[in-house]
Amino acid sequence: MEAVISQANREDFLDMIQLADLTLPERMNQHELKKYFELYPGLIFKATLHGRLVGFCCAGIDMYQTTGWLLFNNVAKEFQGQGIGKRFIEARLQALSQFPRLRRVQVTVSDTNLASIRALQSFGFQHSHLEVNYYGPGKHRSIYELSMMPVEVVVDFAFRAPAEEWNVVK
Ligand SMILES: CC(C)(COP(=O)(O)OP(=O)(O)OC[C@H]1O[C@@H](n2cnc3c(N)ncnc32)[C@H](O)[C@@H]1OP(=O)(O)O)[C@@H](O)C(=O)NCCC(=O)NCCS
Repeated sequence: MEAVISQANREDFLDMIQLADLTLPERMNQHELKKYFELYPGLIFKATLHGRLVGFCCAGIDMYQTTGWLLFNNVAKEFQGQGIGKRFIEARLQALSQFPRLRRVQVTVSDTNLASIRALQSFGFQHSHLEVNYYGPGKHRSIYELSMMPVEVVVDFAFRAPAEEWNVVK
């Protein structure tokens, strides 16, 4: 039987914290998860199998609602490698795409997290840049980005004349 992906709610909170402590110790804490529920309640998803929480993920969006963020993603060890991580990306991209001004989605990833990187690349995310000491000294993170610009807008920019030609008076 396949895990069911659905929106998480506050009743799941304690199970989520327990799972995060097991999958990625010292990364998620109660305060952070509480804030995600307050700020982005519609952007938190869980995976359940026979009623058991086997994973969850969070997304957010900036105050201009143009840049979405994939914020946290974890799957219980014994359920990893079964596609749940990719389904979490899909669920969050689907939810973020409901924001009409959305232009891009970004995510911070450790360069050693090959499962995350492969999953992100399969949705078209590309490496943008490295943020040195992102989580403290030596804890660098790469930023991956997915453009959500409509194709015709991208084409329009691509064929526009260089900036120095815009004000040419003939
Ligand atoms: C990262 C994580 C969420 C991915 O979830 P998942 O359900 O295991 O991922 P999927 O099964 O959807 O696989 C995603 C891709 O990674 C690949 N993959 C899975 N496990 C892998 C591993 N150990 N090494 C390399 N690639 C791996 C899969 O083959 C797939 O790539 P493909 O489509 O090219 O075949 C999960 O491994 C996890 O919870 N890790 C610990 C917590 C963590 O690091 N979270 C991310 C930072 S917030």
